[in-house]
Amino acid sequence: MPTATWNWPAGGRLGMEIKVVDLGMPEDWQEDVLYNVYNHTAIWVKRMQKAWPMWTFGRSSYLDTMAEKENQYIEAGHLAPVNHKYLWEAESGQDFMRESFRDLYNAVREGLAGLFDKRVVLTQSLCVPGFHIFYYHPFFQFQSGIWHRDLNWLNIGMENKGYGSFTAPVSLPECGTGLEWTDGENIFDQPYTVGDMYVHDGMTPHRIPAIPGMKPNDRRITLQGHFFINSDDEIELFW
Ligand SMILES: [Fe+2]
Repeated sequence: MPTATWNWPAGGRLGMEIKVVDLGMPEDWQEDVLYNVYNHTAIWVKRMQKAWPMWTFGRSSYLDTMAEKENQYIEAGHLAPVNHKYLWEAESGQDFMRESFRDLYNAVREGLAGLFDKRVVLTQSLCVPGFHIFYYHPFFQFQSGIWHRDLNWLNIGMENKGYGSFTAPVSLPECGTGLEWTDGENIFDQPYTVGDMYVHDGMTPHRIPAIPGMKPNDRRITLQGHFFINSDDEIELFW
């Protein structure tokens, strides 16, 4: 377990560093999580262009707070300022996710508690961390994700008070993949290992890399989430 040497949340920035935390999961955790992910295919949400096999399981403040084409009009023809699906999902309590992935959420909580020496809680008011799910498509062999910063805290009216992002891979293509980030000149690669968690401040431009060696049976399934310091001085996990 890494020690809490990060200068955070002072200044609210973690810098470009990506911290790698071994989640210390028991042997059968991956099968267990995948079983519960596949058991809920009916409520996965299709993402990106319809032809590309990418879904999320759960609702995210970076995807589900923005107006969508199909619900841009509310009564009287006004533009809807937000996509209410995020709030509806948050208000539902998401018991199925809290129960199905309790062990994984607890491991993430313990990992971040060790890193920052703070109490870590799962959100009660926002959506809980969820999954990115990619199946094989030749498109993913050459197309990277979009360079971005994780500014989704703006979408839910939050101040940037010690904000960060984490990813915990559950299933990876056999050829391997990870996360790319850039300092504006060079592109750096952080390879992923199933069972580890990757933590960063989200403010350095980063993207999902292309996976040139992706094969038809490969899946890229990752638990995704963010965190901030809440009013009780706890680290609160959400998505
Ligand atoms: Fe991101």
